[in-house]
Amino acid sequence: VRELKTVNELKVWRHQLECSVGLVPTMGYLHEGHLSLIQASTAENEKTIVSIFVNPAQFNQQADFDHYPRDLHRDLELCRDAGVDAVFMPTAEELYPESYDTWINLDRITRRLEGEHRPGHFRGVATVVFLLFQLSQADTAYFGEKDAQQLLVVKRMAADLHLQTKVKGLPTVREADGLAMSSRNARLSQHEREVAPALYRALQKAKEMYDSGIDDPDVIHDKMVEIINSAELFTIDYISLADIDTLEEQQKITPPTLISLAAFIGDVRLIDNIIIGRR
Ligand code: PAF
Repeated sequence: VRELKTVNELKVWRHQLECSVGLVPTMGYLHEGHLSLIQASTAENEKTIVSIFVNPAQFNQQADFDHYPRDLHRDLELCRDAGVDAVFMPTAEELYPESYDTWINLDRITRRLEGEHRPGHFRGVATVVFLLFQLSQADTAYFGEKDAQQLLVVKRMAADLHLQTKVKGLPTVREADGLAMSSRNARLSQHEREVAPALYRALQKAKEMYDSGIDDPDVIHDKMVEIINSAELFTIDYISLADIDTLEEQQKITPPTLISLAAFIGDVRLIDNIIIGRR
C-alpha cells in the first residue's frame, strides 16, 4: 500500500491513474464499519484510496480531539490486508497551512442535531471532505450511515457544488450486542462498554412502538429516555424523531423518519440512529 503524506504525493499518485478510484475518508482507528466501506470500494473501483486524518477542524472540544484513539501502524496493516492501494495520511499543517482561509458552510441542514450540539463540526467535516474529493478526484466516496447527518451534509454539498465524486452511504455495522461500531468505543471502560448497547435497544424499541401503531413522537421519545436512563451511566445530549430530508422534528411519525440520538458515557460521546420507512 502506497503511503502518501503530502498533497503533492497524492496529486502525483492520482495523476498517473486513468481507472476508477474509490475513496474511503476516515479518521483512523479502523473497525469493521470502515472495512465494509473499503470492501465496497475495492469491489466497485479499480483503485481504492483511504484517507486517515484526525481532522482538528471538526472537533468542537479540544479534549475529544486529544483523546481520539490513534494507531496508524495497525490501520496501515488493515488497509494492506483489505487490498487498499493507497493511504493518504497528511499532517494538519499539510492540509491547513497557516495561510488556509477557505471554509464550507452548509446552512439549513446543519442547524439541528449534531450541527446544533457541536457548533462548527460540519464546517470542519464539509471542508475536509471537499479537500479530499478535490485532491483524490475520486469517482465514488463511501460513508457510514451511523453518521446519518454527516452523510446528508456530504450528499447535499456534492449536489449543490456539482462535485464529480458520487457519494455512497452504507449500513451501520454493529457489534454482536447491537452497539454501533465506532472508534470512540475503544475509550469505554469495561462496565461502560457493557451498558452501551442500551442506545441501540432504545432505537429498536422506538421502531417496535411505531410498528405496533404508536405514532406520537413524545410517547416514543419518553420510552427511549427511560431505557437509556435505566442504564444509569448516560447523559443524553438529544433524542430526535425527525423528517429525514429537513431534519425537522415530526409532530406525528410520518416515515421516512430518522430516529437519532447522542449520549455521553463519562466523557465519551456516542451517536446512533435508525431510519423508519426507508425509501
Ligand atoms: O466520519 C468520519 O470519520 C469523518 O467525519 C470524516 C468523514 C473522515 C471527515 O473527517
